[in-house]
Amino acid sequence: MIACSTVKKRDIRSHYDLSTLFYRLLWGRHIHHGLWTADETPSVAQQRLTETLAREAGILQHDRVLDVGCGMGGSSLYLAKQLGCAVTGVTISPLQRRWAQSAACLGRLPKRPTFLCADAETITFPPASFDIVWSVECTEHLFDKPAFFRRSAEWLRPGGRVAICAWLAGDRTDANAIQQVHDVCEGFFCPSLGTQHDYVQWMQQAGLKLCACHDWTNSVTKTWEICRDRVRRSGMRWLAQAIDRNSVMFLDRFNTILEAYQTGAMKYGCFVAERTR
Ligand SMILES: C[S@@+](CC[C@H](N)C(=O)[O-])C[C@H]1O[C@@H](n2cnc3c(N)ncnc32)[C@H](O)[C@@H]1O
Repeated sequence: MIACSTVKKRDIRSHYDLSTLFYRLLWGRHIHHGLWTADETPSVAQQRLTETLAREAGILQHDRVLDVGCGMGGSSLYLAKQLGCAVTGVTISPLQRRWAQSAACLGRLPKRPTFLCADAETITFPPASFDIVWSVECTEHLFDKPAFFRRSAEWLRPGGRVAICAWLAGDRTDANAIQQVHDVCEGFFCPSLGTQHDYVQWMQQAGLKLCACHDWTNSVTKTWEICRDRVRRSGMRWLAQAIDRNSVMFLDRFNTILEAYQTGAMKYGCFVAERTR
């Protein structure tokens, strides 16, 4: 695991309060990578990532799903609409909660998801409340990742599964790679990035049985070529300067993350693990 000690929880919250509009304009409703097989549009690639994770996790009609770090509700709304899941979404950003709840009210959904503004590291749920704990690109922001998996295991019924997509530190241990991962953590407000091995260990230590573990790096990297080019072509950096220095740093690190994927300093992982008892 590679850590960045300067990241604070309040900065993560204000980043998402301030940047959600940027994400919406730049990328769409999903705040996560696309999963490419060819030359699809970004929105098709983003949707493929969501659908592929749902398939990998074996989500069934009407499952009770906890969406940890739900953003604008992209995954929650998809799971509610396509599979009739009963979804509870949690985000640390009050603005995102309102955004997601409004989108749910406007959509024609068999079961309307509930969105909560809370810290996933302190929120509590009764044991065995969910069939699936789903988290796409949020565990990067958690300070105690092993504790999150222990708590998730308790929230799952026996036979329930965690479904995770996460930015990872790669296997390189040289100073350049460590610096690149550190710079990504700083620019994107991640207190640490775990390796693929770390995630597997945290899940196993929480009593979860690993069902799937994929390296999707090559299929997601294009995300940052597109985002970097969109920032260059738009006036977004200028707008960020008018907001604060963190917003400028965030946009400037798009190139760093692209290089980190290309050089093996970072990876992108998908994990599914089951509570067996
Ligand atoms: C990269 S976005 C992913 C959003 C969403 N999963 C998606 O795929 O569109 C990260 C999300 O994690 C949330 N987040 C970060 N730290 C959190 C915490 N401690 N508790 C709850 N949500 C958190 C942010 O508010 C944001 O919604």
